[in-house]
Amino acid sequence: MRQMKLGLSIANLGYHYAAWRHPDVPEAGNMQFSHFRHCAKLAEAGKFDLIFLADSAAVRDLDDPAIARDLEHQLVKHEPLALLAAMAMVTKHVGLVCTASTTYTEPYNLARQLTTLDHMSRGRAGWNMVTSFSRDEARNFGLEKPLTSDERHARAAEYVDVFKGLEESWDDGALVHDKASGIFLDRSKMHLLKHKGRYFSVRGPLDIAPGPQRHIPVFTAGESDNAIELAARSADVVYGGQPNLELARAYYTTLKGRLAKYGRDHDDLLVLPGIMAFVGRTMQEARDKFDRMQRLILPRLGLGLLVVNGFPDYTGYDIDGPIPDLPMPSTIKSHGPSPLLQTLRNECSTIRELYERVSAGFWHMGVVGTPTSIADLMEEWFTTGAADGFNVQSPCIPVDSQDFVDLVIPELQRRGLFRTEYESATLRGSLGLKPAAARTMPRTRAEFATP
Ligand SMILES: Cc1cc2nc3c(=O)[nH]c(=O)nc-3n(C[C@H](O)[C@H](O)[C@H](O)COP(=O)(O)O)c2cc1C
Repeated sequence: MRQMKLGLSIANLGYHYAAWRHPDVPEAGNMQFSHFRHCAKLAEAGKFDLIFLADSAAVRDLDDPAIARDLEHQLVKHEPLALLAAMAMVTKHVGLVCTASTTYTEPYNLARQLTTLDHMSRGRAGWNMVTSFSRDEARNFGLEKPLTSDERHARAAEYVDVFKGLEESWDDGALVHDKASGIFLDRSKMHLLKHKGRYFSVRGPLDIAPGPQRHIPVFTAGESDNAIELAARSADVVYGGQPNLELARAYYTTLKGRLAKYGRDHDDLLVLPGIMAFVGRTMQEARDKFDRMQRLILPRLGLGLLVVNGFPDYTGYDIDGPIPDLPMPSTIKSHGPSPLLQTLRNECSTIRELYERVSAGFWHMGVVGTPTSIADLMEEWFTTGAADGFNVQSPCIPVDSQDFVDLVIPELQRRGLFRTEYESATLRGSLGLKPAAARTMPRTRAEFATP
């Protein structure tokens, strides 16, 4: 029976904007390893396929007076690779997916870093490939504004090919370690990549033997046509951001429909939409949890969230009054899907209602329910062509992750929809991806098709 793949997205203290004010959330946890150790062990206790660490290398919009960054907790975060290396030491089975930018890093560096993580974790490394869309990141790397989406994605396509080429730059069995003959490695089994492309010139080979997975699973996300094309071409897993079944099905169908163009099968790419779940033993308990969190959003924070998510600045208006008819800004600071904004605005009658909806993670599947109702929803998405699994975005971490593990996972397991034991030692294996073929022929990639 086909089973769901589940990621636990550990966004520090949680996806809810007021998460850090929850009495059981460690308010300083985003800088403390003890918090992440606890979360990593929890993910493994829940038999999650992977821990997912999203990232961007900047504090975004710090100086925009309309955005109350001083009230937010999500800007403060660790660099994910070092954090995952530490998490690898306190876990045995769970995958470790690290976000890294194709715009602000070089493929040789990243192939070294992730191959080492793959060795240290015995085959559990994953790479979430992002192209970095924000202006604040650009300003940390010598640019005034980000490269265009076309440019970022052309670079990413070449980058991921170089990355995979480096993963293939050794044949199996190259390390001989023969003390008697004195031969340490078989030189004939290491190959130059000799890549010269538009963005990169990389001679190779990698200075690290292939990791247990050889090909580290590549994750990505994004709804632009460029992002979808890159995913269909080069990714193993896509993290989806669709708020309802209809949009999720359409996204799933589009992605899977583009695989054939690249000679890939339907199951070569997994789609895991985000799910932000407030779970209670009863519906009342779930609603109480949700309401308690919503009450913790200060109006100034709420107004700022609207700006970040593409709405106008409503500062100065009565937050419990009607939503003023101001023009929608043309640029969106986050990656929220803009057509949804107008619908959401029409559904809400006050400014407070609007920011509360936004803070509940409107650009992913948001749900308040019991283990049964949440499992019903996940099953529907999973069995009707919208998802191959989910990336779980707990509102408050670790409290809501704990509830998900204690309440929802057993319900999914009871239905046969999720594993009860890890069946593989590697992330590739857990995800059911085809094993990477051993390298046999030297390969030179001089030219790259851009998406
Ligand atoms: C669900 C989801 C998660 C994302 N996570 C990240 C992330 O962690 N880091 C990042 O830099 N971009 C992230 N993005 C942004 C995308 O990588 C992409 O840049 C964005 O959708 C804008 O499209 P464009 O790059 O074609 O302009 C995410 C997008 C979505 C939909």
